[in-house]
Amino acid sequence: MKLLRHAMIGALFAAVSAGPALAADYTIRLSHGDNENNPTHKGAVKFEELAEKYSDGRIDVQIFPNNQLGSEQEVAQALRTGSIEAEVLYTGNLVPLAPSVGVMMLPYAFTSNDEAHAAMDALKDPLNERLPKEAGVRILGYFEKGFRVLTNSKREVKTLDDLQGLKIRVSKNNIAIETFKSWGLDPIPMAWAEVFPALQQGVIDGQENPYTTSISSKFYEVQKYITEIHYLIWSGPIIISERFYQGLPADLQEALDRAGEEAAVYEREVSATETDKAMKELVKLGMVLSGAPTDEEKWQSAAKALWPSFSDDIGGKEWVDKASGIMEKAIK
Ligand code: MLT
Repeated sequence: MKLLRHAMIGALFAAVSAGPALAADYTIRLSHGDNENNPTHKGAVKFEELAEKYSDGRIDVQIFPNNQLGSEQEVAQALRTGSIEAEVLYTGNLVPLAPSVGVMMLPYAFTSNDEAHAAMDALKDPLNERLPKEAGVRILGYFEKGFRVLTNSKREVKTLDDLQGLKIRVSKNNIAIETFKSWGLDPIPMAWAEVFPALQQGVIDGQENPYTTSISSKFYEVQKYITEIHYLIWSGPIIISERFYQGLPADLQEALDRAGEEAAVYEREVSATETDKAMKELVKLGMVLSGAPTDEEKWQSAAKALWPSFSDDIGGKEWVDKASGIMEKAIK
């Protein structure tokens, strides 16, 4: 009898403690376009953990990978109205909505990951003076995944000549399109979610993204050759709807800012480790890694000659001059 009574008390206690968790005061749906094996997702999970911790559970972060809530650009538009709260996306997919962020995309602006980190950290506050007005979003932290390397299914690309005639997908923004045009191509702008099927069906021959993406998105199944071009580092902010952010008490805004910055530090470390692993793994999986083009100075001078023509696409000359000064100072 005594045992039964203990068992009943135990069951009652278990039921109470396993009951519904106290609801958070705020829910953040965080969208991104990669799968769970990509550094972007790992950084997003770290952001979730830190945001919930620093808000003492008053904020609940729910992550939606794989473009489940819409394409990167569609979700960024939804952030403006606050119908979705947050997103991590490639800078190139944000530029059409928030031109000022395009200063991170000037081709050959950075020669290393460290330079990109210094620039993105120094630009966070100046960008947050502009992005709420431009796009109704603000940056909480900046992820980075290394150089966007070129993959294709047709041939080894070691020079600009080898590149000619390939059908290469680029993200939907003018800087990427014009850069590839300066290299003699007619690039194909396409939403990220459509890239794998397009490679599989031969609609395109190639694309450019970090080494880790060739692993997480299984590009090795449909691509053979990788050329390590250094025109652009994959940078991607965690952005939050300005409308949602302004509706939060100050202590929760601080919690999110802190979580965003720390998640970015974590993601950059994960990405560096996984990039090294991915390069070895891709060779094992049969891909040919050709290193940098032997004539990369030609790629560089063609792309850099475009800088003045990009001013209007990335916030105007005054902003570009200011941002370039900030970046140069941060990198030194
Ligand atoms: C793109 O190429 O559109 C992006 O780099 C994809 C991504 O966000 O990983």
